[in-house]
Amino acid sequence: MSVMHIPGHEHQGPREVSLQEIRDLMGNCQLCPLGATRTNLVFGVGNPHARVMFVGEGPGRNEDLQGEPFVGAAGHKLDALLGLAGLTREEIYIANVVKCRPPGNRNPKPDEIEACAPFLREQIRSIWPDVIVCLGNFASQFVLRTNKGVTSLRGQLYQTGHFVVCPTFHPAACIYHSDWQPLLEADLRMVGAWLAEHPAGVDATQGGAQ
Ligand code: URA
Repeated sequence: MSVMHIPGHEHQGPREVSLQEIRDLMGNCQLCPLGATRTNLVFGVGNPHARVMFVGEGPGRNEDLQGEPFVGAAGHKLDALLGLAGLTREEIYIANVVKCRPPGNRNPKPDEIEACAPFLREQIRSIWPDVIVCLGNFASQFVLRTNKGVTSLRGQLYQTGHFVVCPTFHPAACIYHSDWQPLLEADLRMVGAWLAEHPAGVDATQGGAQ
């Protein structure tokens, strides 16, 4: 499988900081205005040593109320898609670019993303997944450090330092754009194929991921 290598993504390496320590650092975070309007800070959920980490945009109404990512309509869609990559919800980790709900589900603003970015970066370093699946524009642009849209990015895997990155459509977007659904499914099958070709414990950056 061809994986596009993106230079300039040298990572600082994994960190022995637990997710709980990062959560504790966030505390009752008020670093951006979303802190004032949220019900719950939605930190993330899942296997702290996941091989595959999913990154969404930000909590919606149900996530804000329950304090957990992807529990609403988008979450049900995500659950149905995981099997295409041979994954279960128990083995993955899910987090969002911003941890607090943008009111009315508006897009997160650049200063909100910037304020929250260190926490997502630390989550990624703590989990140190092999694959990061980016759901939608905001996650894809954050992880790949690009301004390109997900429509042009998707359909292939990228190697950024340690991580293999799969930018794809947000499951919620496919509710309105049903023609994107088969493309999202194809992307998840591609992740499943990559995982099958790269058994756990083999570093993707040491050959094999060309
Ligand atoms: N959409 C997201 O991007 N994240 C969630 O947690 C829920 C919906």
